[in-house]
Amino acid sequence: MAQANNQQDRSILITGCSSGIGECVAYGLHERGYRVFASVRNPKDRATFLAAGMECLVLDYCDSESIKAAVEQLLEKTDGRLYALFNNGAYGQPGACEDLSREAIRRQFETNVFGWMELTNRVVPVMRAQGYGRIIQNSSILGFTAMSMRGAYNASKYAIEGFSDTMRLELAGTDIHVSLIEPGPVESKFRTNAYRAFQQHIAVDDSVHRERYRKMIQRFEASGNVQPFTLPPEAVLKRVLHALDSKRPRIRYPVTVPTYLFAGLKRLLSDRMLDRILKRVG
Ligand SMILES: NC(=O)c1ccc[n+]([C@@H]2O[C@H](COP(=O)([O-])OP(=O)(O)OC[C@H]3O[C@@H](n4cnc5c(N)ncnc54)[C@H](OP(=O)(O)O)[C@@H]3O)[C@@H](O)[C@H]2O)c1
Repeated sequence: MAQANNQQDRSILITGCSSGIGECVAYGLHERGYRVFASVRNPKDRATFLAAGMECLVLDYCDSESIKAAVEQLLEKTDGRLYALFNNGAYGQPGACEDLSREAIRRQFETNVFGWMELTNRVVPVMRAQGYGRIIQNSSILGFTAMSMRGAYNASKYAIEGFSDTMRLELAGTDIHVSLIEPGPVESKFRTNAYRAFQQHIAVDDSVHRERYRKMIQRFEASGNVQPFTLPPEAVLKRVLHALDSKRPRIRYPVTVPTYLFAGLKRLLSDRMLDRILKRVG
């Protein structure tokens, strides 16, 4: 089967590199000799990547033109090839399902789902033409386990899991591999960004959940409030490396103890029994 055969061909496009997992994976792969195209939403965030010797594109998942332009710019530099795509940029919209406006849900899906699908669909023909490729989707434990107050984010990650599972079936027989990474809590700006989305879209005082929201706000605002079993983003980098380097990349890469735990419980317990546990979490 065709393979990426030299260093020059080990190119990867990574989205959402301004902080957290994307930033860590960009630097980690650059250090290991990959040709990293880091992408950021805000042009101001490009400088540090360029200074570190990486290439850096502007890509906003909510903007089709920016997705198209970023892919075109990349392909111009790589002679029309791309070894791998790491879909990573996303945010969590907290709030009870019944409190989510259409606009809040739409924004969540434009970013976490539609943008990922559109970018992936721009990249698949490139991979088909060259005969190989890796598509790595940064899903979540919340891509297969529900958690209350996370309905929009849950739905977005379940959607990515479904899309990726289907795509894998359609790419069977090619040397293009689709892997899902499923992290539990990881150190990043995720919570800060989720709190911002919460403040933008949730009318606390109008909700039957206002007491619960007030407790959530306290947790958001408490500095040093780290969830149990939180890992550094290098834990995700390790799985991305496997998905890139292995001849037989895994379909799913669980990351953190809670992901392993809930993946196991989901297989063992009935939905009702699992609900009993999940009602107490989160
Ligand atoms: N941290 C966790 O506990 C955890 C657990 C499971 C899964 N994940 C997943 O890991 C991925 C990375 O998150 P993180 O933890 O590293 O959080 P983070 O530090 O908040 O990073 C999120 C990144 O996504 C970017 N982004 C947001 N909206 C975007 C858009 N419209 N287009 C392109 N990029 C956009 C952000 O850019 P700006 O700086 O411009 O906003 C930022 O670079 C996400 O897919 C998340 O769902 C995280």
